[in-house]
Amino acid sequence: MNKERELALVVDKIVANDTLHTHWLNCLSMMENTGARKISKYEDPIHSEIVVLKHAAEEARHAYYLKKQIGKLDPSACPNFTHPYLLAPTETHHYLNRLDVAACRYLKHRMKLTGRALMHGAYLLVTYSIEVRADMLYGIYQEALTKYKSKVNVKSIIAEEEGHLEEMQKMLVDFHPDWQRIASDVCAIETELFGAWIQAISNAIAQ
Ligand SMILES: [Fe+2]
Ligand SMILES: [Fe+2]
Repeated sequence: MNKERELALVVDKIVANDTLHTHWLNCLSMMENTGARKISKYEDPIHSEIVVLKHAAEEARHAYYLKKQIGKLDPSACPNFTHPYLLAPTETHHYLNRLDVAACRYLKHRMKLTGRALMHGAYLLVTYSIEVRADMLYGIYQEALTKYKSKVNVKSIIAEEEGHLEEMQKMLVDFHPDWQRIASDVCAIETELFGAWIQAISNAIAQ
């Protein structure tokens, strides 16, 4: 079975069960919030440009929007991001942090970047690989939501993530002439980490 089909089966199972579904939304909300916080940390307080301000604002909105969707299923579910309210909490926490660490290591050792250049490269590459993933994951998720006639929808997030992917591509072209090879290396790292995360989610919902 191909990876996307496997993922669709996991997501289907989640959407069909309101408790699993609220926990899933809470995982996505936490990951979006982690992303927003990472962008804010990366932002230069003086030289920040509109594209980065927009990106930080939209990722924060995604975290809030997903949290609000939980209320459509059960208004009292998942008040915070502590372990009881997440699926595979440890792995959910690990995914983005490990990707960030791995991308920084790659840029430091393979590209010999340091300081602000390293931070900038990590921002571009981590974000790029996540946006490629978001495109696929939210697409599959929205298909399941439509199929089950769920009150939840993530169409506005999909539209904004598509915009982010385009913006990252433009910024990567300026970052390095060989950006496609570098991005594909980081995407390969992301694919492994995403696979481990989905496996953990799949194990958690099988219990
Ligand atoms: Fe997002
Ligand atoms: Fe995004």
